[in-house]
Amino acid sequence: MALNECERKVAVSVFLGVDIGGSGVKGALVDVATGELVSARYRVATPRPATPDAVLKVVEQVVRHFEWKGAFGCTFPGVTVSDTILTAENMDPGWVGVNAGVAITESTGLRVTVLNDADAAAIAESTFGAGSGVRGTVLLLTFGTGIGSGLIHDGVLVANTELGHLEFRGMKAEDYAAARLVEREDMRIDWWASRVNEFLVHVERLFALSRIIFGGGIAKRFDEIEPFLTVQTRVVPAALLNNAGIVGAAYTAGQRYGSADND
Ligand code: BGC
Repeated sequence: MALNECERKVAVSVFLGVDIGGSGVKGALVDVATGELVSARYRVATPRPATPDAVLKVVEQVVRHFEWKGAFGCTFPGVTVSDTILTAENMDPGWVGVNAGVAITESTGLRVTVLNDADAAAIAESTFGAGSGVRGTVLLLTFGTGIGSGLIHDGVLVANTELGHLEFRGMKAEDYAAARLVEREDMRIDWWASRVNEFLVHVERLFALSRIIFGGGIAKRFDEIEPFLTVQTRVVPAALLNNAGIVGAAYTAGQRYGSADND
């Protein structure tokens, strides 16, 4: 059926975003002109072990749920260069070396763009959210199963920074201060917030930051965390909360594939 001009504009600005995380694979349709979700989120628990085959099946399930037929965007919680996975700390090591772009296209029949989850969230926040219009260096940190980092300088992403893997207090920073300590290991939020602050103080010594964006599902408890933060840099909760990865994935697909696949 031919679409009129108005319907066409609506159709071409919508892309599917899929966010593969350590605990869930989430998807939604996103208006990439505004960054708004135009569908409910659909979430499937990340299979364990999170092997390529098992996770690819879940991605396919998410695509099928939305009956999506166009190009789409997908995040991965590890270093991702030209669609290839180089690290998979919180996933199955079988992912390392896999060209996720090729694998997802083979299993779904659709074109896809793949990027690191925190990088996607940083793109979304700097385009539509808490980093929008901020000059200089903005750092988004996502606190979840691990700690992800997305570094943006004057609106441009410096991909795959991996600050959650800095060695800190004799361990990886994400083992010291990831939100899973609160969400799954029952650490008191005030103890955890003090740890996060120590980490932020350390990061602030390394970068001259205009703003730190505090992301991940736990950002909804930012009011309880903020009193423990002593860093000089302004720290703000992510405006898109836990949807930033989905929005960034969809937006990146929109940038790469434009309207060609979706009208
Ligand atoms: C991974 C990062 C990822 C972060 C959050 C870390 O363990 O190495 O690439 O962004 O977890 O998922």
